[in-house]
Amino acid sequence: MCGIVGYIGNKSALDILLDGLTNLEYRGYDSAGIAVNVDNQVELYKAEGKLQNLKDVTALNRAHIEKSTIGIGHIRWATHGAPTKTNAHPHSCNCGRVAIVHNGIIENYKELRAKLEKQGCVFRSQTDTETVAHLIASKFANTKDLAEAVKLASKEIEGAYALCVIHQDVKDTIIATRRNAPLLVGIGEGEYYIASDVPAIIKYTKKAMYLDDNQIAVLTPNSMKLIDIDNNALTPKIEELPWEPVALSKMGYKHFMLKEIHEQPNVVRNVLAGKLRAIDENVILNEVTLDKDRIKNLNRIQIVACGTSLHAAMVGKYIIEQYCGIVVDVEPSSEYIYRKTITDKNTLVIGVSQSGETADTITAIRQAKSKGSHILIITNRPDSTMAREADSLIPVSAGIEVSVAATKSYMAQVISFYLLAIYMAEIKGSVAVQDLERLKKELVLLPQKIEKVLSHKEDVQVCARKFANSKDFIFIARGINFPTALEGALKLKEISYINATGYTAGELKHGPIAMLDESMPVLSILVKGGVYEKILSNSEEAKARNARMIALTNSEDTKLTDLFECIIRIPEIDEMLSPALAIVPLQLLAYYISEFLGKDVDQPRNLAKSVTVE
Ligand code: M6R
Repeated sequence: MCGIVGYIGNKSALDILLDGLTNLEYRGYDSAGIAVNVDNQVELYKAEGKLQNLKDVTALNRAHIEKSTIGIGHIRWATHGAPTKTNAHPHSCNCGRVAIVHNGIIENYKELRAKLEKQGCVFRSQTDTETVAHLIASKFANTKDLAEAVKLASKEIEGAYALCVIHQDVKDTIIATRRNAPLLVGIGEGEYYIASDVPAIIKYTKKAMYLDDNQIAVLTPNSMKLIDIDNNALTPKIEELPWEPVALSKMGYKHFMLKEIHEQPNVVRNVLAGKLRAIDENVILNEVTLDKDRIKNLNRIQIVACGTSLHAAMVGKYIIEQYCGIVVDVEPSSEYIYRKTITDKNTLVIGVSQSGETADTITAIRQAKSKGSHILIITNRPDSTMAREADSLIPVSAGIEVSVAATKSYMAQVISFYLLAIYMAEIKGSVAVQDLERLKKELVLLPQKIEKVLSHKEDVQVCARKFANSKDFIFIARGINFPTALEGALKLKEISYINATGYTAGELKHGPIAMLDESMPVLSILVKGGVYEKILSNSEEAKARNARMIALTNSEDTKLTDLFECIIRIPEIDEMLSPALAIVPLQLLAYYISEFLGKDVDQPRNLAKSVTVE
């Protein structure tokens, strides 16, 4: 949560900071700010609300601010303290000589604040971050060495942080450090860029160094020194960033979400490439380092994830149990970490995460790792914290996802689960070869079917207009598409703020049916297969209570037209693979409803793309 940028070099820092923050807006957008050093004076500029407000503030003083060739910036997703200008970063100390930006949570900030207040520090904000600014300033007053001051302060801080610090008295230096929150340093010619994520700097450099926990980078325009918290000198590990700047363009689409929905056919092709080479060949998944005997002996799989990734994991459970005959438990990471979990070396623990930085999932996999389980990570960010913790890593290659509402990363995760299930089933011999071949054939055909859905969006648009003013929405499904119902409902509530819930259709009559009346839309996911008739009959029950019925179906059954007010059609597909196709119209439905209502599609209120706090 929150985005950090920093720059030191020979160019004006202002536009680099604002540009970096623009590309980090997906991490939070409650307020924003920058700190620069102009004419030997640290100056702070802050604004509440969207980044544009900060851009407007700095525009008033552009010629002056532009003089600074050093600066730090921040875009906030509020944790401690309301999203106001006062609570916006950067934060400073009594004398205003230090400025810091912070991502994470300082757990012992109350104790630190009490101690600092006794020493005369005057706090202006309600944030945990301001304690760090005062703490560093007080350490600097004694040491006159900024790196030393940051080092001493970090020994007193408990919690998670990525920090960037400047000080008026050391005007050619930025200090960057982290513990349990991501931070990287981009390397240019006579300049350094700092960011909490690649999009902020990829336009300027592809050479970067990821900081590890408790490392401190001391940056001047012409030098980078890396030390640890005990002052040992370290050798920076410089990497080539695997991203292209073009990933951050909307490519003519009105919103990133719409662009990302349309990228899904190619995302499927990318995920399959090199892994599924022919229908009659075994799936190749060299990324899984668990040896074949251990796969055969697995007695249990636990999958931990949050939000949309959790729904992908639920599809994963269904297919792994179906094809591999291994018991799979799926649990939200935030629940997994607060109870006694039973894992051992014959348990495979899978962490699923678009960002690879979700704090609860990181904690969950660390917990499982400490008990000896093999950790397999499925993530869109092979450069993330989670990826670094992995014993096996399946990078899902969806490309950078900017919209807060996850779409293409869900698709990539789901397809990765199909590959994993087939891979393990082939090792275990747990299912007939013909069944696996049928599934592989369907996987290969999937991109074209998604393209068909994307080129016939009219049904979805009509339905979106009809139901956009609904206060509530119910999605029902059974079996392998229950996660599709949950994900469809999540997409809708995230970006339109309509109260949407997914239910297993059979549960409707055990309570939710009481809510049905002529104002309640019920969307039935009716894919031909084992549970088709059952869902149809549950839909009849809902219709009998006057609910407004919508079908998402691949059936041509004529009786559907009497039962459903709106019918959204998808191509023929094997029920086992249908979640990967059925989700696409639901993403579009959420998108068009949100757009129709004039909501902020890519940056819905209260949300952030990457939830790096527990
Ligand atoms: O990066 P992760 O996949 O770990 O993120 C998990 C959730 O925060 C995320 O899926 C969230 O629910 C999205 N906003 C869904 O659109």
